[in-house]
Amino acid sequence: MSTYILGIESSCDDTSAAVLKDTRILSNITANQSVHRSYGGVVPELASRAHQQNIIPVVDVALRTAKITKKQLNAVAFTRGPGLLGSLLVGTSFSKAFAMGLGIPIIEVDHLKAHILSHFIQSPGNPDVPKLPFLCLTVSGGHTQIVRVDSPSEMQVIGTTIDDAAGEAFDKAAKIMGLPYPGGPEIDKLAKTGNPDAFHFPESSMQGLNYSFSGLKTSFLYFLRDRLKEDEHFIEMHKADLSASIQQTIINILMNKLRRAVRETGISEVAIAGGVSANSGLRSALQRASGELGWTVYIPDFEYSTDNAAMIAIAGYFKYLKNDFASQDTTPYSKSNF
Ligand code: KG4
Ligand code: ZN
Repeated sequence: MSTYILGIESSCDDTSAAVLKDTRILSNITANQSVHRSYGGVVPELASRAHQQNIIPVVDVALRTAKITKKQLNAVAFTRGPGLLGSLLVGTSFSKAFAMGLGIPIIEVDHLKAHILSHFIQSPGNPDVPKLPFLCLTVSGGHTQIVRVDSPSEMQVIGTTIDDAAGEAFDKAAKIMGLPYPGGPEIDKLAKTGNPDAFHFPESSMQGLNYSFSGLKTSFLYFLRDRLKEDEHFIEMHKADLSASIQQTIINILMNKLRRAVRETGISEVAIAGGVSANSGLRSALQRASGELGWTVYIPDFEYSTDNAAMIAIAGYFKYLKNDFASQDTTPYSKSNF
């Protein structure tokens, strides 16, 4: 008998619902919140209000797209954290009430683990699932981690950022250049026509497998401040080269530690996950490493790179198999305990 899981994601500014039949996705519907664009970043209060408006229609469309009724669902999996508390509360409260009404269990999911487990979603664009153990570079707006994955329930963070996340580095560099939020995709687009060697920025070197990105942001800011004194049109004239150069620096920093992690663990099955894994430069760098260093690499479909409920549903599915259910008094957490 098949298992149907409804996944709910509401940790930041995307309201998403997905229906999973075993490891296959039947629907994955996301409502993005354009309301934050004019503020240059996510406004938490506006995010939770938008989740409140979006959640029921998004679930409704997810069920209709999956062509199932809610009575066929076996469980509801939801993001418990980390994320914005007001946003998480909407998904958590909805999931509890919906599951209680249907008399089915709820499953709490860690957002970061879900990004990693998105690699187990079966889809035409995702034919191969990683072999265990594998390493996963999780790069999102809030986190940058190298994780050793021994099984869907056994994961160990072996490297992490001590300050900004890689996504923040992209977003802050974009903001300094006056690009709209979120800046990562904007930089990616501009970088395609720029020269990555046009400008050089310092690559931080932390101990072990850890990362640091705050110094890069500061040096980018000071570099542009000095250039703007000489030429007020500097950014406008060099947008593509600046984007390509900062993107290249971020990718070099990410890949250096990833190479070291492979050397130290002897694991050459390597995945990337999280919003920044949508970056075309990072995707190519991983492909190159596959050819040059003999790694087997796993790059998620774009649909599963940025925040989505399909990854919550697959993480929930693995817990469902172990009868690992949450109780109705579960509350969200804003910081990762992973
Ligand atoms: O995983 P995600 O959707 O949300 C969090 O859990 O944080 O990641 C969002 C981050 C943002 O910082 C965004 O700028 C970045 O992912 N991002 C990108 C690209 N697409 C999204 N960064 C670089 N290049 C991209 N193509
Ligand atoms: Zn995320």
